[in-house]
Amino acid sequence: MTSLHNLANFFPAIDHHRRCFVDVKLLIGKCSTHLPNFSRNVLRAQLTDTVSAVESEKISKDEVMKAEERVIVGTYGRAPLVLTSGKGCKLYDIEGREYIDLTSGIAVNALGHGDSDWLQAITDQANLLAHVSNIYYTLPQVNLAERLVASSFADRVFFSNSGTEANEAAIKFARKFQRFSHPDKPDPPTEFISFTNSFHGRTIGSLALTSKEHYRTPFEPVMPGVTFLNYGDTDAAQELISSGKIAAVFVEPIQGEGGIYSATKEFLQSLRTACDKAGSLLVFDEVQCGLGRTGYLWAHEAYDVTPDIMTLAKPLAGGLPIGATLVTERVNAAIKHGDHGSTFAGGPLICAAAIAVFDKISKPAFLASVTRKGEHLKEILKKKVGGNSHVKEIRGFGLIVGIELDVSASRLVDACRESGLLILTAGKGDIVRLVPPLIISEQELDQAVEILYKCFDVLDEKNPN
Ligand SMILES: Cc1ncc(COP(=O)(O)O)c(C=O)c1O
Repeated sequence: MTSLHNLANFFPAIDHHRRCFVDVKLLIGKCSTHLPNFSRNVLRAQLTDTVSAVESEKISKDEVMKAEERVIVGTYGRAPLVLTSGKGCKLYDIEGREYIDLTSGIAVNALGHGDSDWLQAITDQANLLAHVSNIYYTLPQVNLAERLVASSFADRVFFSNSGTEANEAAIKFARKFQRFSHPDKPDPPTEFISFTNSFHGRTIGSLALTSKEHYRTPFEPVMPGVTFLNYGDTDAAQELISSGKIAAVFVEPIQGEGGIYSATKEFLQSLRTACDKAGSLLVFDEVQCGLGRTGYLWAHEAYDVTPDIMTLAKPLAGGLPIGATLVTERVNAAIKHGDHGSTFAGGPLICAAAIAVFDKISKPAFLASVTRKGEHLKEILKKKVGGNSHVKEIRGFGLIVGIELDVSASRLVDACRESGLLILTAGKGDIVRLVPPLIISEQELDQAVEILYKCFDVLDEKNPN
């Protein structure tokens, strides 16, 4: 710890950078040029001490934001908020301010922050074994897959590390399934149907299935052979599926990023019938709407339709990275060793966390509480803000709720943040998206809606720009 002050006395550049803990490399570089007799390793050790010292000092929000701007690739337009801890449905920033979290890290932290069973499962498993790769068998992976299979239409699970990867696996499995099902056909079906307002991920295959053009065009060519149809257009879907060219249809039973649009029963059922007739696969992307968010364990349970493949991710490991592609035995039959894989996927640590999450969420009483709280949320929203002239519609079910506005929601999001409430947007930015932790209480929902209500006035203020 003394190294910070010793070095600072000798070398002003250290003092200049001393509060910037990301500047180790810069410091090492500068010091080694000025102090050639210092061995790099000794210096590195001293500077690591320095970093610990600086990290334990209070770093300001502005310093973190400036450091981020310097060292992180600029893909994210972040809110000016540095979060440092969380408990339950509350988050705390670097300045000690408290926020009610209606974002759940984008529909991830279903058990809120720091759930004690989740923490215990991670701690216990980390003490035993964190990672070994898929060269070997591990118990938590098999135990988690058994739970997913027992609770769904599926017979098998492929694990990955994110929602986009779960969809990439589904794309590959659909293509392989079609090749396997048409051994004598030189051109088996390889094309896909996706829908308006869909979001399936950002890697090149799942990006090709994502409807927003501005996500896709800078990276073209993406995977070819994807046709976008209007979400809910049964006739167009039936016609294209009957062409025999479609390997699979990808659909979210409830669209999250696209704006909280729910499919109708007729739409999903007609997709099922058309796919069965043509031999196409039906893929439900439940990355955002699955695992209890709707009050059903799987969102498609509300529709009486089962898919051939379902993709999961966000809440499954309660905040640790995981993806899962659930398939029927018929699909699995087409998959052989080496067809797909991942170094990290389904590791014991992540799977132990996911088992803790699954065991809580899948309890009927837990799911019933999500339904009840979802109804309460919509009711108080309708009462408090439903009459506001900017509100076009309040929709969704369970704890995935959207408030469609006639203007951009960004000023409302900012005002809420400044008042201690974190919310998301969806669609073209004109939809407020509320996806709280599933453990939230009615009282916390009331507090959150009260803040939201008080902030609505900001939408009427004249834009300073
Ligand atoms: C429905 C859906 N599918 C896929 C994804 C991509 O998931 P990830 O960001 O984990 O890759 C998302 C992310 O928002 C999603 O909402």
